[in-house]
Amino acid sequence: MKKSMIVVILWSSILCKAMAGSSPLENPKAVEKWVETLIKSNKQEKLSKLHFYFHRLGGGASSPSAVVVAKANATMPNSFGLTVIRDDPLTVGPEMSSAHIGYAQGMSATVSLEEVVLVDYFTLSFGDGSSLAVVGSNAIFHEYRELPIVGGTGAFRLARGVVTFQTYFFNATTRDASIQADAVVFHY
Ligand SMILES: *[C@@H]1O[C@H](CO)[C@@H](O)[C@H](O)[C@H]1NC(C)=O
Ligand SMILES: *[C@@H]1O[C@H](CO)[C@@H](O)[C@H](O)[C@H]1NC(C)=O
Repeated sequence: MKKSMIVVILWSSILCKAMAGSSPLENPKAVEKWVETLIKSNKQEKLSKLHFYFHRLGGGASSPSAVVVAKANATMPNSFGLTVIRDDPLTVGPEMSSAHIGYAQGMSATVSLEEVVLVDYFTLSFGDGSSLAVVGSNAIFHEYRELPIVGGTGAFRLARGVVTFQTYFFNATTRDASIQADAVVFHY
């Protein structure tokens, strides 16, 4: 691990690749070869640090980024049982108008009777075929939430890491939120 290179991914380079239509996704034989080469070459993992924002647009937005797909047939504390599907835009800066870099696409289920806690299951998709899979507990009213990164595709094949969320902005009326995300990711 000592030899790991620190690489900060530049969003501009990801965006350029995506816009050029080049995809890091390959056919199954090429993926197999990639893994075999990895084993033979004893390649060291890289550490990438990613900093971005995602936007959970609530019912007040003209085009909300989430839709409720299930809820309990009774009034439950802390919205227990509420399940939504999300397609949240990712941006470089905290404002929706800043450069768009992808989507957080997946599901949130409200899973605690004691406080508002979501279990989030989503992929951070960066448009060029590269993605990170995130699964974890998100106690949305806590200052920091730490979710495991459990895998990835494209530039993030065999990724693992941690992403920390901090709420940057939340409107309790509209349920709109901007969340700061900081990820540290090991990948090859
Ligand atoms: C949901 O609640 C309503 C009102 O209490 C009841 O009539 C209905 O049968 C319930 N449905 C289910 C699937 O439990
Ligand atoms: C929240 O949204 C409502 C409705 O659009 C708006 O009136 C209010 O000013 C907003 N609050 C904040 C803190 O932005």
